[in-house]
Amino acid sequence: MVSPFARLPRSVRVVEVGPRDGLQNEKALVPTEQKIRFIQMLAGAGLPVVEATSFVSPRAIPQLSDASDVMSGITRLATPSYPVLVPNVKGMERALAAGARAIAVFTAASESFTRHNINATIAESLANFRPVVAMAQREGVPVRGYISTVFGCPYEGRVETRQALDVAQDLLAMGISELSLGDTIGVATPNQVIDVIGLFTEEGNIPVEQIAVHFHDTRGTALANVLAALQSGISIVDSSAGGLGGCPYAPGAAGNLATEDLLYMLRGMGIETGVDLEKVLEATSFIAPYLGHMPTSKYYQAAMASV
Ligand code: COA
Ligand code: ZN
Repeated sequence: MVSPFARLPRSVRVVEVGPRDGLQNEKALVPTEQKIRFIQMLAGAGLPVVEATSFVSPRAIPQLSDASDVMSGITRLATPSYPVLVPNVKGMERALAAGARAIAVFTAASESFTRHNINATIAESLANFRPVVAMAQREGVPVRGYISTVFGCPYEGRVETRQALDVAQDLLAMGISELSLGDTIGVATPNQVIDVIGLFTEEGNIPVEQIAVHFHDTRGTALANVLAALQSGISIVDSSAGGLGGCPYAPGAAGNLATEDLLYMLRGMGIETGVDLEKVLEATSFIAPYLGHMPTSKYYQAAMASV
């Protein structure tokens, strides 16, 4: 029998979003020095991308109001990239001044979410990114584009996949090199993942190499969704050490897919990542006391229970 996994990618690039997407959704304010150490430990674990922080309005996300100090405080290794989130020109100026050499912009597939999150329509958000992307191109800084609510919206429920594709095509036309498709509220199921990626790559003609997936584990489907994405040819997966970052729309529920859980599955399946799972576990153990709760990663919990 031919294995149903015969066509899975041989290697996966894991994009660590814990210090940004994770910590911005934690109630606790983690001290700057500990954030810096956390980022350095994650980079030291071999993660090729460690999203470090966010140059957004400190009123919107007080947890990351120390972005400049975090960014200029990290001792960088040669290989990993340390992208930061940027919503507008002001954020880009702050990011460049702090030494950022990779950025991400973010919008959504649904209007109500975009309004609540960044106080703009989708079209306005795209217009805000144009000068940011132009600045990035002048500086030789690569730009990733996040699209939230691709698989469902906390305000609108079901989201038309074509709407997400339109946003994706606008972002790519601007010169953005990588898209991350987000299941912001953790509602996706594997069939939907296959449908969305199929539409993007077949009808939308978007190269699969430019697509990353960003699943939340709110309802326990994140790893199943990753597997479906891999079967669709995706080889870039976002995750958060320890599963940091609860879900603001479902208080108490899990948020981001945990890096440890993802790495455990990929390692078991013989898919290369270049990441040392035990070192990610050490990074999570280091940051856990600052969170005020047990990290949601199942691998982490199993490891802690067995010591
Ligand atoms: N960095 C720091 N401050 C910023 C900023 C940035 N990138 N962008 C705007 N501000 C400040 C302005 O200077 C202004 O401050 P003031 O009132 O003291 O003059 C204030 O924020 C409002 O600015 P405005 O341009 O009117 O923005 P807004 O209120 O419409 O908010 C965003 C728009 C995008 C700046 C804000 O909604 C935001 O930062 N959202 C981030 C949300 C987020 O990160 N979500 C998670 C990621 S998925
Ligand atoms: Zn997330």
